[in-house]
Amino acid sequence: MAEQIHQDAFDILALKAALARTPFAQNLHFYPTIHSTNTLLMQQADAGAPEGTVYFADEQTAGRGRGAHSWESPPGSGLYVSILLRPRIAPADVLWLSLAAGLAVREAVKQVASLEADLRWPNDLLLGPKKFCGILTELNAEVTRVRHLVVGIGINVHQEQFPKELSHLATSLHIETGKHWPRQELLVALLKALYREANDLATNLPQATQSILARLEQSSSWIKGKRVHVDEGECYTGTTAGLDSRGFLFVQTAAGLRTVLSGGVRALE
Ligand code: BTN
Repeated sequence: MAEQIHQDAFDILALKAALARTPFAQNLHFYPTIHSTNTLLMQQADAGAPEGTVYFADEQTAGRGRGAHSWESPPGSGLYVSILLRPRIAPADVLWLSLAAGLAVREAVKQVASLEADLRWPNDLLLGPKKFCGILTELNAEVTRVRHLVVGIGINVHQEQFPKELSHLATSLHIETGKHWPRQELLVALLKALYREANDLATNLPQATQSILARLEQSSSWIKGKRVHVDEGECYTGTTAGLDSRGFLFVQTAAGLRTVLSGGVRALE
């Protein structure tokens, strides 16, 4: 069945005004349809696009997720946004920024829709057991210097249903609340929160990472004590045991403590 399109247009002038105190206000680019906001923004970053450039779209025809997955991006349904940052942090610390982006989305969803989302390491936001937001952070760096990074965020907002193969995994803000939350308000709250997080990391990294860790431990059921299945090519099971000093997830297995570097973490049934 075709996705029902809910009228929820963006007002660029109002967006600019709401974001006036951030570097995003002068660099907002809306696309009615695009292949992928992340793909285009990574290309434009190479070509010198300014820090704070934001691409957002009503529809993506080739939306990308982590690990070469696709991201369903039907028109009028979700918030699809990519943000270009050139943070003065080491490449090894970029994971903290990506984790902070998850906290920024959580904060935005709380402000706008009064929902308390769970955060599944590293970057999924869940309501109950189902995912409604994913984050794809892509990096262009030398070993010691970040040239630029693009944080790409997809939030399921207005979807009323998902294809059968996704319906046990995916949800939307509308499915969870029965209401249509405005994408514009989510975008403003999200960009303001992300700006604060990026600023904190650039000005006082140790303090910012402590704060991210504390907030994750408070708001995510996945950081400690969760029985999980990990798929990193090799699969294993264990219990989550906090984050290491770089932000990677520890999992205690029968064979010892392991660090999840890349893989998908799923709850053990
Ligand atoms: C994931 O959970 O796998 C990450 C999904 C990220 C999707 C967003 S939508 C905006 C941006 N453009 C893309 O092509 N991907 C990200």
